[in-house]
Amino acid sequence: MADTLATNYCKENDLPTVEPPKLAVPKILPGQVAIVTGSSSGIGRAIAIALAAAGAKVAVNYAGGEQKAREVVGLIEGAGGTAIAVQADVSKENQVEAMFETTLSTWGNLDILVNNAGLQRDAAFVDLSLADWQRVLDVNLTGQFLCARAAVRAFKRQGIRPSVSAAAGKIICISSVHDVIPWAGHVNYAASKGGVMLMMKSIAQEVAPFRIRVNSICPGAVRTPINTEAWSTPEAYAELMKLVPYKRIGEPEDIGNVAVWLASDHSDYITGSNIYVDGGMTLYPGFETGG
Ligand code: BGC
Repeated sequence: MADTLATNYCKENDLPTVEPPKLAVPKILPGQVAIVTGSSSGIGRAIAIALAAAGAKVAVNYAGGEQKAREVVGLIEGAGGTAIAVQADVSKENQVEAMFETTLSTWGNLDILVNNAGLQRDAAFVDLSLADWQRVLDVNLTGQFLCARAAVRAFKRQGIRPSVSAAAGKIICISSVHDVIPWAGHVNYAASKGGVMLMMKSIAQEVAPFRIRVNSICPGAVRTPINTEAWSTPEAYAELMKLVPYKRIGEPEDIGNVAVWLASDHSDYITGSNIYVDGGMTLYPGFETGG
C-alpha cells in the first residue's frame, strides 16, 4: 500500500521519493534505562525499539496488549538489546507506582521517561460524553502527570551520574500538533494535548535546577493504528497530503529517531521545548496558495 501511494504521488507531482530515509540509530544511550509508556504499538513501539538500538535498556509498558508488548521485547532482544514488558494503566496511580518500582528493582536506576501512552475518543462536540471526555484526559494528561512525577522523584533520588549522562534524567512527553492546532470533532484530545504543553513547560521550569530536562515531541500525521482512516486509502492519503507541506506521511521511526536524540546528551541544553515532527503541518499549509 505504501509503495502504491508513494508511486502515485510521485507521478502526479514529479518528486523523486516520499519514503523516509533509512538510517542506523547511533549508539548514544549506552548504560541508560528508559520507560516508554504505551509502547506495545504505534509510535511508542518505534520509540522503544529506537532507544534500545541506541543502547538503552527499555521497559515496554502496555495497558492491555500483553502479547504485542512481548513481541516488542522479543524484537529488541533479537537485535541484541535489553527490555522487559511492564503492565500499567497510566491513569491509575498505584499501577504507575508499581511500574516504576518494577523497572527500578530490575535495573537499579532510571534515566529516561517517554510519556507516550495516549488515545482518541472522537465525537462531535455536542455528542461528546462525559465518559469520553474524562477517559481521554485521564490517559493523555493525568497519565503523563503521574508518570512524570514518579520519574522526577527517581531522578532526584539518583542525582547526576556523569558517566551515564550530563542530566539527572530526561522526560519526553509525546504530544501532538494538536497542542496548537484546534481540532473540531476531537475537543477532548486537543484539550489534553494543549494541557500537556503547559504541564511540560511548568515541570521543566521547576526541575531544571536539578538538571532534569523535560521536553515534548509533537507528531503530525504518523502512520499508526490511531489514524488509519486518514491514510489507508489513496483518496484519504491525497486529502491528508493537503495538510502536509513535506508531502509524505510520517512513519513511527521518524519519531523514534528524534526521541533518541532528545534523550541523549546531544540535546543537553534543550529543556521546556516543543519539537514539532510534522512535515510542516503546523506551517498553515492553507496559506501555500491562499491569504
Ligand atoms: C492524531 C492523529 C492525527 C494527527 C494529525 C495526531 O495527534 O493522533 O490521529 O492524524 O494528530 O492530525
